[in-house]
Amino acid sequence: MYSQVQREQCIACGLCQLRAPELFDYDTEGIAFYRLDHNQGQAPIPAAQLAAFKQAYRACPTGAIKRQNKPFTTKN
Ligand code: F3S
Repeated sequence: MYSQVQREQCIACGLCQLRAPELFDYDTEGIAFYRLDHNQGQAPIPAAQLAAFKQAYRACPTGAIKRQNKPFTTKN
């Protein structure tokens, strides 16, 4: 499973970082990004982090956190 934050949809609510601090972090404006590869969507979510990822994914109020089974090809 791969993840990327659709940054234009992020409203800097902060829930993803609370739920999955290993996976999500913020830039100086509070907009989230996928930590493992600076939001490139190329680094798979570690198995040990999948439960935390699902919590963050469900918690995001805008659906900005994307997931798919192959690496992302577009940058956000
Ligand atoms: Fe943004 Fe959603 Fe996280 S709004 S801060 S990506 S929970």
